[in-house]
Amino acid sequence: MAYTLKVNGRSTSVDVPADTPMLWVLRDVLSLKGTKYGCGIGQCGACTIHLGGEAVRACQTPVAFAANKEVTTLEGLSADGTHPCQLAWQELDVPQCGYCQAGQIMSAAALLTKKRNPSDADIDAAMNGNLCRCGTYLRIRQAIHRAAAIASSSVAKPSQSAEILAPSR
Ligand code: FES
Ligand code: FES
Repeated sequence: MAYTLKVNGRSTSVDVPADTPMLWVLRDVLSLKGTKYGCGIGQCGACTIHLGGEAVRACQTPVAFAANKEVTTLEGLSADGTHPCQLAWQELDVPQCGYCQAGQIMSAAALLTKKRNPSDADIDAAMNGNLCRCGTYLRIRQAIHRAAAIASSSVAKPSQSAEILAPSR
């Protein structure tokens, strides 16, 4: 069946079964490989995207549920890698292996749309479902505070595009 999707500001149509997870629609049909496959069962957060502004797990979101809603992936977070989270992640050199980081950034970005200056407790609650096998949790928390500061002070510099932010794997 054909579904109309709004992905990163663009409307597109995909012809897949209704229960196809958005993870596979994004990666295999639309070639947006910034959204990662970790566990496939909603337990790791590597596949986190935004659906209508909310952080959701793409592996647990059927395409039929996402149809006609605004979908944002890592590739759509900013045009040039200058979202405050992207800048903060680069500045603090957050990733280790990097595999979880796309999902971490997407969860963090969703948090900052709701809380402009989140506390440690806010961050821990929002990021609770995003696992990092490399244990970068403290740097992630620092980076979210830094991203909040960047967002509020508008010190983001467009020239600092972050190459970690458009992974092709
Ligand atoms: Fe979706 Fe792990 S791959 S939560
Ligand atoms: Fe390696 Fe998070 S940086 S899993």
